[in-house]
Amino acid sequence: MSNVIRKAVFPVGGLGTRFLPATKASPKEMLPIVDKPLIQYAAEEAIAAGCDQLIFVTGRGKRAIADHFDVSFELEMELEAAEKWERLKQVRNILPSHVSAVFIRQPRPLGLGHAVLCARPVVGEEPFAVLLADDLIDGNDKPALAQMVDLFASRGESVIAVEEVDPAETDKYGIVSTEAMDAQTGRITAIVEKPKPDVAPSNLAVVGRYILTPRIFSLLEHTPRGAGGEIQLTDAIAELLHEQGVFAYRYRGKRYDCGSKLGYLMANVEYAMKHPEVAEGFCRYLKEFPGCNFDGE
Ligand code: G1P
Repeated sequence: MSNVIRKAVFPVGGLGTRFLPATKASPKEMLPIVDKPLIQYAAEEAIAAGCDQLIFVTGRGKRAIADHFDVSFELEMELEAAEKWERLKQVRNILPSHVSAVFIRQPRPLGLGHAVLCARPVVGEEPFAVLLADDLIDGNDKPALAQMVDLFASRGESVIAVEEVDPAETDKYGIVSTEAMDAQTGRITAIVEKPKPDVAPSNLAVVGRYILTPRIFSLLEHTPRGAGGEIQLTDAIAELLHEQGVFAYRYRGKRYDCGSKLGYLMANVEYAMKHPEVAEGFCRYLKEFPGCNFDGE
């Protein structure tokens, strides 16, 4: 098996009910952080990590994602006619020419594990990455997935991104226990999906970046419905642990939980403060803003 990761899977079939009504007719992955949709940040992270085939597992009402990565002939013609070259470049360069996009329909929303299994015919017998666009990660020196690809290249075993979370919130995440190897890496000894705080093995939570060996597919085929009545990727990883090593990796960077309103707003504020077009004006606005006196009462 090669240790090179070329394929990235984006499960984008989820309903996004937490952002209704914004997500009634438009996919949650198309919500913008300043001026770029969440799914584009995830795609760029995969490309920066060396992936050249992006596999989107979509569902009902997700056509805007396919349109986003497709050529928009009319828009390009109009921008060209208006001589808006900068804008034209932005629209044209969404995917570099060496990168291809494949769309697979997940017929029913049966869970993350099932979505990943839907990608099997395109991934085949190669190790691959999974990126959940809800988790936006601003990597310190290097994008998070690229850091994980480095680890996979040297060890050849699955890698899962983790981060410590508030112990009261373990039931929002996959939670792992590990044998520490160094400050950033540990071997996973157990993994469980969304345990209640009183039974959680730790507060080390799975973040939406995975590098998996193709063995996961055969395990997913037999994974019964788990937490929330869904086929969970976490449960298949728990099975994988009996056969292969799986690393937990604390990436260098900051994650924004854009599946929640608060995390989404924080990401917008912090990305705007760094955005070349609006940073200056936005920072000035924040500085002069009368302040927020909300004390929760
Ligand atoms: C999924 C996974 C969970 C993981 C989380 C990270 O849950 O099932 O193990 O911790 O993504 O964002 P979801 O957020 O889709 O409920």
